[in-house]
Amino acid sequence: MNTNARFNEFDRAYFITKYLNPLSKSIYETQLSFKIPFFKETRGLKVTAQTLFDKNVFDAEAFSGFPDYKTTKEKIDLGKLLFNDPILSGDNSRSCASCHHSDKAFTDGLEKAVSLDGTMMVKRNTPTLRNIAFQRSFFYDSRVNYLEDQAIAVITNVNEMHGSLDKSALDLKKSKKYAADFKKAFPNKEITAFEIKNALASYIRSLSDYDSKFDGYMRGENQMDLDEIAGFNLFTGKAKCATCHFIPLTNGTVPPNFDRSESEVLGVPGKNKKIDIDFGKYDLTHAEVNRYSFKTPTIRNIALTAPYMHNGFFKTLEEVVDFYDQGGGSGLSFNLPNQTLPTDKLKLTPLEKKQLIAFMKTLTDKKLY
Ligand code: HEC
Ligand code: HEC
Repeated sequence: MNTNARFNEFDRAYFITKYLNPLSKSIYETQLSFKIPFFKETRGLKVTAQTLFDKNVFDAEAFSGFPDYKTTKEKIDLGKLLFNDPILSGDNSRSCASCHHSDKAFTDGLEKAVSLDGTMMVKRNTPTLRNIAFQRSFFYDSRVNYLEDQAIAVITNVNEMHGSLDKSALDLKKSKKYAADFKKAFPNKEITAFEIKNALASYIRSLSDYDSKFDGYMRGENQMDLDEIAGFNLFTGKAKCATCHFIPLTNGTVPPNFDRSESEVLGVPGKNKKIDIDFGKYDLTHAEVNRYSFKTPTIRNIALTAPYMHNGFFKTLEEVVDFYDQGGGSGLSFNLPNQTLPTDKLKLTPLEKKQLIAFMKTLTDKKLY
């Protein structure tokens, strides 16, 4: 085996696939052969996981705040219909899919979407909805904890959909088709705001399958090329990306318990080469440490979700990597005493930057909805 004396040279991809994964599998097999029972509880990382990279190893149910309202196929189908139907918006002009386009991993390619009345832009960039179920908080400022609560915020927002779930419930009851679909999804229940939210959330929970080139590689199902592997080693090593974008989820939901999702202060620029004016989590907490703090998002499907960051400031992954390479906002000379991104420069070579991006492009799900 290669000796890995230095942090930057340590071949993490090799170590995980050749040692850690087989070790973790054999622990699982030992548990089976000794007939040691598995815990019964629902956990973020399933108790029956053999490695961190198994298919369906994360349990979206564990992240739901409503254990009595389990996700079912009927709810997913209904949620998909609602997601694509303008019936939920105040003037019936807009659906969730107006901003979250399935072919762009549910983003819209815009810096920011245009407000409902067409006169301004909404506050933030439209994030992906794929693989986001595995978070303990939602929105860039972490203002809600459950997917169910997220829908209400968007539907009632004047600039986004300006609707009312109670009114939508009345409209939906009038439709024979929806009345029948709700009966199937929620037998013995009335159509109320909660059923609408739960159906939408169920659909979003279903948009999660860890089946990218990277996942296949980690499971030994396919190869990655040498640049992509080098990029993974940079992501988890020298470039320090995985200290916030935890592998394998690549979001800020902290292993091993996956019971909180972190926010960070990077110092993303806005207009006039100044720090962006959005205060992020500070607007909720009014704590100085949270000024300019944003939830660490997943970077799965990142090749499809440009432009990047809460304000869509960076148009390409090259720009994002340059920003990190120079130490975030501090590298742009912003006075940001609470920056949580380490301020030292990463000193990535042009080749290393290319490799990092090549790795990120392996995170595209094979099957898009
Ligand atoms: C006008 C465009 C627009 C429409 C319409 C829209 N969204 Fe969004 N969505 C956004 C933006 C922008 C954000 C980020 C807002 C923020 O973080 O403050 C977002 C965030 C989200 C999030 C949180 C993602 C995360 O990881 O935190 C979910 C879930 C979501 N939307 C689902 C929906 C659903 C369901 C609908 C329909 C009921 C919908 N959206 C309609 C633009 C839109
Ligand atoms: C200190 C924690 C931290 C580190 C380290 C970090 N990130 Fe991030 N990353 C974040 C946060 C927080 C955001 C969202 C910031 C925002 O929207 O303003 C983000 C956003 C991104 C985005 C844009 C996501 C989107 O959907 O718009 C990409 C791409 C990204 N990071 C890649 C990287 C790479 C590559 C590295 C390593 C060079 C890295 N990150 C290191 C916390 C971090």
